[in-house]
Amino acid sequence: MLTKIIKTKLTAIFSGVILISLLAFKDRALHQSFQIQAGDTTKWPARFGFGYTPTAQEITAWDIDVRPDGKGLPKGQGDVEKGKGLYTLKCASCHGANGVETGAKLPGPALVGDTAAKSKPKTIGNYWPYATTLFDYVRRAMPYNQPGSLTDNEVYSITAYLLNANKIIKAGAVLNAQNLPKIIMPAKKLFIMDDRKGGPEVK
Ligand code: HEC
Repeated sequence: MLTKIIKTKLTAIFSGVILISLLAFKDRALHQSFQIQAGDTTKWPARFGFGYTPTAQEITAWDIDVRPDGKGLPKGQGDVEKGKGLYTLKCASCHGANGVETGAKLPGPALVGDTAAKSKPKTIGNYWPYATTLFDYVRRAMPYNQPGSLTDNEVYSITAYLLNANKIIKAGAVLNAQNLPKIIMPAKKLFIMDDRKGGPEVK
């Protein structure tokens, strides 16, 4: 009885091994036939027939990056007062009434804190090196549940409000494409340019 069981098991194992070998052989055979075909003369079609050339309007809608030197900032302006109202309406539910709060009920991180803050939460005031990045980020990503819904003027106003809340600009400031890139962020000094030479330069 015992030998019968062992025999059956062995047969099962052997058939498994044979099957795997066959599969491996099939794979090799396929691979070889592909190699042979790789040298043939079949040409790729000039077009595959999918996709389309985007319109200038579609490209403009995606081309919204703003660089540290302000390149890419749109026309328009905004002030702290308007920004405060917009913040309360569209941001406070996730970032807290003043941007300093955090907790289980707030899905967003703290946005306000300065470089002197002891706890050093990574906020706009103590971590972001460029003011223009704030504009870019808010315009493309916030409010989290409705990204892209703010007008450029609204983004300027919210940027002004958040920079004022972080004690970086005065309450009366009106921001636009000219003066936003000139703001020196307190955290800029915390970053150093990687200017090492003579090795793989990954920047
Ligand atoms: C529905 C919730 C929600 C709303 C509303 C919302 N945010 Fe956020 N916000 C988030 C979350 C979540 C993150 C973190 C995203 C991540 O790290 O990928 C975030 C991240 C941010 C950051 C980056 C913070 C950092 O230092 O990394 C900024 C700035 C910001 N939000 C600004 C705003 C502004 C301005 C508004 C209003 C116009 C807004 N958010 C509305 C949820 C929200």
